[in-house]
Amino acid sequence: MVVAETPEAAAAGVAILKQGGNAIDAAAAASLATGVTHPASCGLGGGGFMLIYLASTGKFYALDYRETAPLKATSTMYIRDGKPDEELARDGALAIAVPGEIAGLDAALTRFGTMKFQQVAAPAVTLARDGFSLGPHLAGEISRMAPRLAQAPGLASVFLKADGTAPKAGDLIFQKKLADTIVSLGNKPADKFYHGALATDLASFIAAHGGIVSTADLAAYQPVWGEPLHRAYQGDEVYVMPPPSSGGVVLEMLGMLEPGHLGGLGVNSPPYLARLIEVMRQGFIDREQYSDPAFVKVPIATLLSPEHINQARDRALHHGAPEPTPTAAHDHGTANLAVVDSAGNVVVLTTTINTVFGSKLMDPKSGIILNDEMDDFAVAPNVPNAYKLEGEVANEIAPGKRPLSSMAPTIVVKNGKPILAVGGSGGPTIITGVLQVLLDVIDFHLGPRAAVEEPRIHEQAEPSTVIIEEKMPQETRAALEQMGYKIRVVPMLGAVGAITIAPGSIRGAGDPRKGGMAAGY
Ligand code: DON
Repeated sequence: MVVAETPEAAAAGVAILKQGGNAIDAAAAASLATGVTHPASCGLGGGGFMLIYLASTGKFYALDYRETAPLKATSTMYIRDGKPDEELARDGALAIAVPGEIAGLDAALTRFGTMKFQQVAAPAVTLARDGFSLGPHLAGEISRMAPRLAQAPGLASVFLKADGTAPKAGDLIFQKKLADTIVSLGNKPADKFYHGALATDLASFIAAHGGIVSTADLAAYQPVWGEPLHRAYQGDEVYVMPPPSSGGVVLEMLGMLEPGHLGGLGVNSPPYLARLIEVMRQGFIDREQYSDPAFVKVPIATLLSPEHINQARDRALHHGAPEPTPTAAHDHGTANLAVVDSAGNVVVLTTTINTVFGSKLMDPKSGIILNDEMDDFAVAPNVPNAYKLEGEVANEIAPGKRPLSSMAPTIVVKNGKPILAVGGSGGPTIITGVLQVLLDVIDFHLGPRAAVEEPRIHEQAEPSTVIIEEKMPQETRAALEQMGYKIRVVPMLGAVGAITIAPGSIRGAGDPRKGGMAAGY
């Protein structure tokens, strides 16, 4: 079973499973195909986190292939005339961090895959070369971004029509340069991407646009294998990625909810949602202590200790509704996918170029869209990023450091066997979306489709307006307002995909919010 954010990516993963590939092969294939069919969200110019369960060892593996600040980066690089200029971290070449995507896929395939890179890349190459039919989600993003894309020659040539207008859903999109680039990576993709002609081309394109990612940065890039974090929840064990992902925040929120027996409260009942709002707020307050553990000691043991969780739960129970502040920006970049194979291996990965179309720069030679992941750092103390997340000192910029992420691929285990694989996209709504789908499956016993389709809420402490999807019944919204919460209704929050695994039954659901798809055979 493969759950991905486009039908083509799910089909690419299934094609590889059918050819005898394992979950790691299929995840790499689906990830590359997502990069082609959701190019505004992720791709070779980005990076991500991959959580792997290997049936043969019964162990979990955490692969961090997050982008990294270039060697010339400094904590004051976005200060102009004494003031931070946040746009520089979101748009243009100075926003680009060293991409980790190919290093990560190569590392995963080399360690646990069974196929060569070109075999898993074949579906992505075909989609890029022969074109794919534009889905409604990407059509919407292109149309919204059309004026900005028109100013970026590389992006305009691929994503706008010759007359400069946006293509419609159903139109074909071709990325021939990107297809050639993926083929040129051969079966040693990290060597080709980070050293040699492609690296030189990328660095000179970035330099020509005023960026600082150099060939030395590309040559130095390394993915990091780490130890997953885990904690018990309702008799199960929940595994997540360590920092700089936000997996630990999900664990802390679960810890605060643990003694609550949420199942008795009813799916999306007002008392349940009120408890969630308070717990989400405390989790986001603690998220400010997260960052790249290679640079800053993240107090994970303390944050996940029973004492700390009890205190946070107390604060959550006794906190009055706060003063509202402006709500977060919404953006539907990033992509998540999950794979379960017949041997019982499980992969959940989340990958991104950050905001829609990343830095808004595509290298015209290679067809690679470059990320704007530098915006996930604290651009300057107390300056909110594109998601209105305020950074603290822990997450300040340093050369070679990885910015804090909200991405949170998660696997739940019962009696040593995975029962749920879940992850999402959508900035900070990833954390709260993964939490809610997990609770819907574990506490409310919903199947993956019902769990993914339930309307969701989002609260992130600052800004402290609760965001609620419009599908949430009016009486529920009114009940929350009566409790004193300031709410803001939005068409939808981020997308979450899930696979549940039981003996003889693997069920999956992509998120209809973003046109996601589950495919199996
Ligand atoms: O890593 C992060 O948290 C962000 N770069 C994710 C961005 C994202 O999900 C875009 N969509 N809202």
